[in-house]
Amino acid sequence: MKTVRYGVIGAGVIANYMTRAFTEGRGSVATVVADLNLEAARKVATASGAPRVTTDWQEVIAAADVDAVYLATPPFLHKPMTLAALKAGKHVCCEKPFMLTQGEVRDVIAAQRGTGLHVNCASSRYNCAGTAQKAKQMIAAGELGHLYHISYTQVNPPTKPGATLPDWRNDPARNGGGISFDWGPYDLDWLSFVLGDLFRPQLVFGTVGNYFPLTAERVPPCLGVDGRYTAQIICADGLTILWERRAAEHGPARHSIEFRGTKGGLDTYFMPMPEKPGMLHHAYVGTDELKTTVLPDKPPAFEDAIINPVRELTAAILEGQPLTNTPAENLRIHGVLDALHASARIRQAVRVAE
Ligand SMILES: NC(=O)c1ccc[n+]([C@@H]2O[C@H](COP(=O)([O-])OP(=O)(O)OC[C@H]3O[C@@H](n4cnc5c(N)ncnc54)[C@H](O)[C@@H]3O)[C@@H](O)[C@H]2O)c1
Repeated sequence: MKTVRYGVIGAGVIANYMTRAFTEGRGSVATVVADLNLEAARKVATASGAPRVTTDWQEVIAAADVDAVYLATPPFLHKPMTLAALKAGKHVCCEKPFMLTQGEVRDVIAAQRGTGLHVNCASSRYNCAGTAQKAKQMIAAGELGHLYHISYTQVNPPTKPGATLPDWRNDPARNGGGISFDWGPYDLDWLSFVLGDLFRPQLVFGTVGNYFPLTAERVPPCLGVDGRYTAQIICADGLTILWERRAAEHGPARHSIEFRGTKGGLDTYFMPMPEKPGMLHHAYVGTDELKTTVLPDKPPAFEDAIINPVRELTAAILEGQPLTNTPAENLRIHGVLDALHASARIRQAVRVAE
């Protein structure tokens, strides 16, 4: 096989950003696009070079000229569509959140077993950033010594006044949660990628809170779902991750990730942000004062990060390249998400299921 033929299911906001994945000449092409809204499907089909459109997603999954599906539907549809695709012998690139619960991830793992098919989740987008690659390499090489603490804090700006979002965004039954399921998978995927085997979450103690009106004129569009979480994740060897993300608050947007180990510290960020100075490495050497070094960093273009999950799935299918996100990894990611919400409910630390 020289080209992976994709069927795109869901032609909403994110699918429109993904079309370049199917036209850039890296082995991925689109053959059909499905959406309940045929006009939306046509727009994505035109931009991605797909010759056919349909309103019936099952038609895509059954199509003989589809090797893999890219799922860009609301989260509650990810499980039935992934299972159906696997049953039909198709590889799957699924938008984040991968599933709604860890139990759903187990169902996918069971369905995938023995098929030889690849499945990944688009929460792996930012794994291609130079910061992630460099942090991963430094930690694996022991350059920070024994890693004992990570502070991972992200503050998203509010949406513009008057902005609206589709109904599913305001419904935990259809999205799993608000910012915790919208951005939480990115956070956890990034941490899992960078930490590798050190990311073995065992215990989560956290809180979540819903969005609230900032002013009478600035009301977030989804007041029915969480807009912030703060949690402590304790990993198997005692590594403590302070993990928080908040949105739409009375304070500036902020992106800060701090790693601390017995030999050094590293400050970085997870999204490609050209305006940031790069990564900072801190260490005491001998009797000198703290030495801070700016490490070179070349952020990938935002457009490249966005389509990275399709590139990775195609490379896995055509060249056997390892995926940076797998269902096994999503078991840990969704284990943490489940534990976060359980902990917030009962106000106690909750063990992460394996
Ligand atoms: N919006 C973003 O910036 C963004 C970014 C990254 C990932 N995502 C993820 O991508 C997924 C989709 O998000 P979105 O913002 O594009 O949503 P959206 O609501 O804009 O688009 C979803 C599309 O799916 C279609 N759809 C719904 N049910 C369908 C069905 N049964 N068959 C065929 N089509 C169906 C809808 O008609 C709609 O066009 C979500 O999981 C989201 O978390 C979104």
